Amino acid sequence: MKKLKLILLTSLILFGISCKKLNTNNNKLETKVDSILAIMTLDEKIGQLNLVAGNMDQTGPTTNKEYEKDIKDGRVGAILNVYGVEQVRKLQELAVKNTRLRIPLLFGYDVIHGFKTIFPIPLAEACSWDIELIEKTARLSAEEACAAGLNWTFSPMVDIARDPRWGRVAEGSGEDCYLASLIAKARVIGYQGEKLNDPLTMAACVKHFAAYGAPIGGRDYNTVDMSDRMLRETYLPPYKTAVDAGVATVMSSFNELDGVPSSGNKYLLTQILRNEWGFKGFVVSDWTAINEMVNHGYAASEKKAGELALNAGLDMDMQGAVYFNYLKKSLDEGKISEKQLNESVRRILKLKYNLGLFANPYLYLDNKREKEITYSKRHLDHALLSAKESIVLLKNTDYKGRKLLPLSKSVKKIALIGPLADNKKDMLGTWNAQGDENKVTTILAGLKSKYPESIIEYTKGSDFNGKDKVGFNSAITLALKSDIVICTIGENIDQSGEAASRSEIGLPGVQQELMEELVKTGKPIIAIVMAGRPLTIEWLSKNVNAILFAGHLGTRAGDAIADVLSGDYNPSGKLVMTFPRSIGQVPIFYSTKNTGRPFDAKNSYTSKYLDISNDPLFPFGFGLSYTSFEYSNLKLSKQSIQNSESLTVTFTLKNTGKYDGEEVAQLYIRDLVGSVTRPVKELKGFKKVFLKSGEQKELSFSITENDLKFYDANMKFLAEPGKFKVFVGSNSVELLEADFELL
Ligand code: BGC
Repeated sequence: MKKLKLILLTSLILFGISCKKLNTNNNKLETKVDSILAIMTLDEKIGQLNLVAGNMDQTGPTTNKEYEKDIKDGRVGAILNVYGVEQVRKLQELAVKNTRLRIPLLFGYDVIHGFKTIFPIPLAEACSWDIELIEKTARLSAEEACAAGLNWTFSPMVDIARDPRWGRVAEGSGEDCYLASLIAKARVIGYQGEKLNDPLTMAACVKHFAAYGAPIGGRDYNTVDMSDRMLRETYLPPYKTAVDAGVATVMSSFNELDGVPSSGNKYLLTQILRNEWGFKGFVVSDWTAINEMVNHGYAASEKKAGELALNAGLDMDMQGAVYFNYLKKSLDEGKISEKQLNESVRRILKLKYNLGLFANPYLYLDNKREKEITYSKRHLDHALLSAKESIVLLKNTDYKGRKLLPLSKSVKKIALIGPLADNKKDMLGTWNAQGDENKVTTILAGLKSKYPESIIEYTKGSDFNGKDKVGFNSAITLALKSDIVICTIGENIDQSGEAASRSEIGLPGVQQELMEELVKTGKPIIAIVMAGRPLTIEWLSKNVNAILFAGHLGTRAGDAIADVLSGDYNPSGKLVMTFPRSIGQVPIFYSTKNTGRPFDAKNSYTSKYLDISNDPLFPFGFGLSYTSFEYSNLKLSKQSIQNSESLTVTFTLKNTGKYDGEEVAQLYIRDLVGSVTRPVKELKGFKKVFLKSGEQKELSFSITENDLKFYDANMKFLAEPGKFKVFVGSNSVELLEADFELL
């Protein structure tokens, strides 16, 4: 009888909920969630905190065979690595039809740069400096993923990274926190849209909180140790911007920070995230990151690790089963409180409501929609645009009286060489979700669609790994009989990404030797470097005629490269990570400090290397165009500002070349003296502008006191009066400058 009453009560609550439209009013939401919480057993509550990996994909070291049974028993709150309308429906039914409270599951997946239609890897797309484009990529990725039944993506990854040895630089937006913060916001808005209960939007998850991008030695998962100032000034802003943009969830990182693993770090998860930033969503661990606190030497047992995690503010356990196995005992022993447990459950249930899953657990499941949206023309067109905008022209020298690129219309024989030329799989890049390599346009196919097939000949030349040089001879022979040689070199899909750090970041395998042989032929050479990170390509930069850096560009890679080579698209990308000359310069980034002994060639007791210059090979913000741009006439509206005043910086940008094109005009500042030292340059604004050949425009930026703020000697975020420099130009080195004062 008691049981019957409970079922009746439950049905009434859930029925009431499902009959009404989702109510965004917070009080009502709280009441609804509390009414569910009130009838949940302890096991059911702990079940909600349990995120379990399905078996359709494997993105971490552990597996789980029992998850279907656990779902039926109401001991799972969310699933990852299961997708597709049919598969998701099957598991959602298990939850909704079999469990006492019929609480629907969340379905999460790493939709990092597309679901089926694959866009450029995030590092490459960041080089577009096109915030609207990036937001649209996230929107379309969400649409495809949602059409496959998913409602939660583990993206955006916003970890600032200044060490290209770290393989996961591929997933982020580079070294600068201003640019990365704008991109973080764009991606959150793109995924989540205006209403989470729209079946084409999904919950985002900003990761990996915090400072995962600064492992010692660039080795993935390694220790992170930095000052609180560095953390707050450089590493935290993109996560904070994502929180301000309303990101639904946050993922804690694998690393420790100042001796405390992030998954048990109350300072990060409660003090900063909730108390200072007011984050209202839930925190999920990274894959078995709670368990790993035992290896870290921070918890003596998994049970203790679970207690530390929950008490620190971590709500959901990804694939670790620590909460599942031990939280009940911890509660009995008084090591965790029911209040804390309820709080975590409440946060998770709220997201399920906000996603519309209580109103309709099958909201995301529609076979027709899945067919219509996946690989639709709109998605493929955007993949092409995004790939084109991601390409950075690093070098383009004169050859026979004209720049080598774009290719001359009179070219008669093109040699296409290298392991990336007739390659589909590696175009997809790391974390390519369900991207289908059969849908990829190769560079060879892209070129063949632009030029008569008879003038293009391809040979691979070498692989990415190993010492095999058997392909060299045919590559040299082909080069010798061609009038231009296009070499597609760099990294394959496994040479960047998670657990893919490298100690040397030159061209892998025998590709460097292949290039040396091809250069000896004396033919003009264009190198298309595709990689998940900056590479040390100083030799290449001195010895080939033109270089394009193209990341891994996704489904439309080949079409985008062909558009750029032929001149149908004028490249406009700008680097978001400094390219070092040698691994010995790493970590290297533009917003460095001046030091007490800045380099001076005439004084040997200054900051330098004996064997290499301090300068990067290619600086942050660098990227050429087929046309040329001239900056002039830098003017400030005032010589000084105070309080809430703003300063207008104006300048003239002129397209002085033969082609129409786009330029990313950049604004940097330098605070000359502070209560703590300030970087020699900090990006504070940029504009991507299209100018026809010969056209010029007056452009302006506005600077307010807010742009001048930093953490002072007492860790107060404020601007200090004093002198500043302002710089405007085409990259972080070639700049016009002026001075002003904050009174
Ligand atoms: C990665 C996360 C990812 C998770 C789930 C982990 O290994 O660090 O970025 O979201 O796996 O696939």
